[in-house]
Amino acid sequence: MSKITAAITAVGGYLPDYVLTNQILETMVDTNDEWITTRTGIKERRLLKDSNKGTSYMAIKAAQDVLEKSGTDPKDIDMVIMATATPDMPVAATGVYVASQIGAVNAFSYDLVAACSSFLYGMSTAARYIESGRYKKVLLIGADKMSSIIDYEDRATCIIFGDGGGAVLFEPNEEGYGLQDEVLRSDGIGREHLKIDAGGSILPASHETVDAKKHYVFQDGKTVFKFAVSNMADGAAKILERNDLTGDDVAWLVPHQANKRIIDATARRMGLDDNKVMMNIERYGNTTSATLPLCLYDYEKQLKKGDKLIFASFGGGFTWGSIYLTWAYDS
Ligand code: UT7
Repeated sequence: MSKITAAITAVGGYLPDYVLTNQILETMVDTNDEWITTRTGIKERRLLKDSNKGTSYMAIKAAQDVLEKSGTDPKDIDMVIMATATPDMPVAATGVYVASQIGAVNAFSYDLVAACSSFLYGMSTAARYIESGRYKKVLLIGADKMSSIIDYEDRATCIIFGDGGGAVLFEPNEEGYGLQDEVLRSDGIGREHLKIDAGGSILPASHETVDAKKHYVFQDGKTVFKFAVSNMADGAAKILERNDLTGDDVAWLVPHQANKRIIDATARRMGLDDNKVMMNIERYGNTTSATLPLCLYDYEKQLKKGDKLIFASFGGGFTWGSIYLTWAYDS
């Protein structure tokens, strides 16, 4: 029997309607379109404005899109992995609720929390379950309501992040398509540079923490940028080398959308032209766990069976890595 590989067989996505443009941000904080565009590549981002709706709302929409496009009966889903940094609430996993809402009544589910690398790590996790032969349909969702943890008076962070959700279906493949190799890393040195101080077990919520705005994201952008540029490019370069690939062999780089300058540096290191780089940061900003699946969602029509894709990510923790995957279908 041939070896089972874990292939992506369908892609879905969801973006909220509200568009927060750089021009609107100019009226909220001391910033300007030119600074944001040249430093990050971002022009606008989407926000889920309804305060009664959480990350699960976007995850459910993205998952339903996958089910519909692939004609999958939700009862056949074995597992739902929910990659997110902004779960609906602590303790009760968001993925469990999402699985029930989409009718995946025979699945088990949990959340995978690794900041901006949640989806990348989730790809690795989904692949192992499929490769085991025991699970046939694993739904991997990446969604984040970043607006729920961003201080819209802090220009260092509010210009960067956006809300959104994406999802993919992983299934066994016997032709060898799917996940081929991975380089995944983490380093706790990053803990102080990108974090939310309060609301966890070290500093539970109190009037003082709320007054001090400690439930919002803090980022030391310069330091994170430095680590992101070198590690994301290193991971991608390593995976090329290990698989005897050059930039010419690669059809697409699927990079985490944190900053256009980080993406450009990674592409240059891989020897890739711009037309091989998936990019939607201009329209969505950094949607954290949703950036990678939303790239696939936007570019799906251009993907062909056999295309070699290199995924690369870097995020809080620090967490980072790269995955080499061959595309399994003509869109
Ligand atoms: O996805 C998770 C991982 N995250 C990342 O990978 C993000 C990595 N970091 C970055 O993308 C960049 O560091 C930022 C986009 C966050 C910031 O860009 P930067 O080029 O590193 O700017 P900076 O923080 O060094 O600030 C440069 C100047 C400062 O002014 P002075 O001190 O030179 O006078 C800032 O105060 O720009 C100022 N500044 C702003 N000006 C206008 C900072 N934020 C803004 C702003 N608008 N929004």
